[in-house]
Amino acid sequence: MKQFKFPEGFLWGGATAANQMEGGFYEGNKGLNIADVLPGGKERLSILQSPGFNFEIDRDKYSYPNHEGIDFYHRYKEDIALFAEMGFKVFRMSIAWTRIFPNGNELTANEEGLAFYDRVFDELHKYGIEPVVTISHYEMPVNLVKEFGGWRNREVVTFFERYVNAIFNRYKNKVKYWMTFNEINSGLIMPIMGLGFSIQKEEDKYQPTFQAFHHQFVASSIAVKACHEIIPDAQIGCMILYAPVYSYDSNPKNVMYALQEERFFNYFCADVQVRGEYPAFINRFFKEHNIEIDMKDGDLELIKEGTVDYIGFSYYMSRTEIKDKSDLENSQGNLIGGVKNPFLKASDWGWEIDPEGLRISLNQLYDRYQVPLFVVENGLGAYDKVEEDGSINDHYRIDYLRGHIKAMAESIEDGVNLMGYTSWGCIDLVSASSGEFSKRYGFIYVDKQDDGSGTLERKKKKSFFWYKDVIASNGEKL
Ligand code: BG6
Repeated sequence: MKQFKFPEGFLWGGATAANQMEGGFYEGNKGLNIADVLPGGKERLSILQSPGFNFEIDRDKYSYPNHEGIDFYHRYKEDIALFAEMGFKVFRMSIAWTRIFPNGNELTANEEGLAFYDRVFDELHKYGIEPVVTISHYEMPVNLVKEFGGWRNREVVTFFERYVNAIFNRYKNKVKYWMTFNEINSGLIMPIMGLGFSIQKEEDKYQPTFQAFHHQFVASSIAVKACHEIIPDAQIGCMILYAPVYSYDSNPKNVMYALQEERFFNYFCADVQVRGEYPAFINRFFKEHNIEIDMKDGDLELIKEGTVDYIGFSYYMSRTEIKDKSDLENSQGNLIGGVKNPFLKASDWGWEIDPEGLRISLNQLYDRYQVPLFVVENGLGAYDKVEEDGSINDHYRIDYLRGHIKAMAESIEDGVNLMGYTSWGCIDLVSASSGEFSKRYGFIYVDKQDDGSGTLERKKKKSFFWYKDVIASNGEKL
């Protein structure tokens, strides 16, 4: 049996986001964020993918699972102790912007919010766990959405700058790994969460989308520069939703189509954030769609100066493309489209499972950028069953993770510089795309059900003990 080797100091851990786990909806002067107005259940995905969402809460019609999350706000000590028991070196989390600036446009930061994250970081450090912090993970203040139009509005850059300065100054001795925008390129498919606005029917979606991206690129560069100045020993990365695009067959027309989709979805944002310039290929797209980006003098220089130190990315699935899809079945669940890949199985939510695709992704990203890579999300959303004796035998999750960890080891042998791995939803939490609790990713089970019932009790799944061994052996015991 082949022995897999990971470098000394490899950053093993787990990943989460504030809005999907904290709860504490009304506490600590927190303001309303985008996830707070997204309903739970299957309706959520269609809201995310359709035009005309109004960002209002409608309790007569919907439930709002993010309001309670898994109550990490009160239970963080218990949860962090469990992460420590698994041997986590790092814990990826986000700061909820609305805990620090409840409406987004205040002039001073909210002390209660700042103090909450002080407590969380201190607790992590008690066990020697380094926080990896996403600055903006689908949780923009709703006030900025309603009053300013989200990232379409240049003023939001100023509010974001105020936010990042507040958190860098406050946590400069506590946080050494940062990331700017979670899955920034997801704005291409779900602008509500990433860009803070809903496409309206009458609008051409591309113009506002790319204008909003431009503002995020400027904001990201401002954050990178501020981070380097305020915390010189910190590293700050971008965060990309990466799904390698395969051509369905060897017809050159399909190969070209797959290449175009790959560049457009996987590389456009990363090119700007890592290389510091808009890629040449996007000019043709802008021209063909009459897109004109409103830029201020100095923006391009700023973008050039504020390039990231590493690439964080999520990897769940690959995507298979063909120019004319008419005769082929769609890949049901893949949020980013494509057709069914005959070589792959899929999860219960239709996400195609492709460990080799992670090796391909790591090699492609490293070939293109030559900066350190960090797999900051990967995992299997599945239905778990609690047996009568209380055990949870999630062998399917172990199989999934084992395959992907092996793929990372292979890519390291291929020459890729990989910093670490934080598997998604290390503790069960609310699903981002479906608002369900039943779509579970965790090593730790949380007793919370889709109908809102449950005690919130935490239980260790089989995968908990398996991952603990993986970390203790630095990836040798898979
Ligand atoms: C990523 C997001 O898209 O995938 C997370 O960054 C999300 O917020 C994760 O939870 C898994 O997706 P889902 O929809 O299964 O929760």
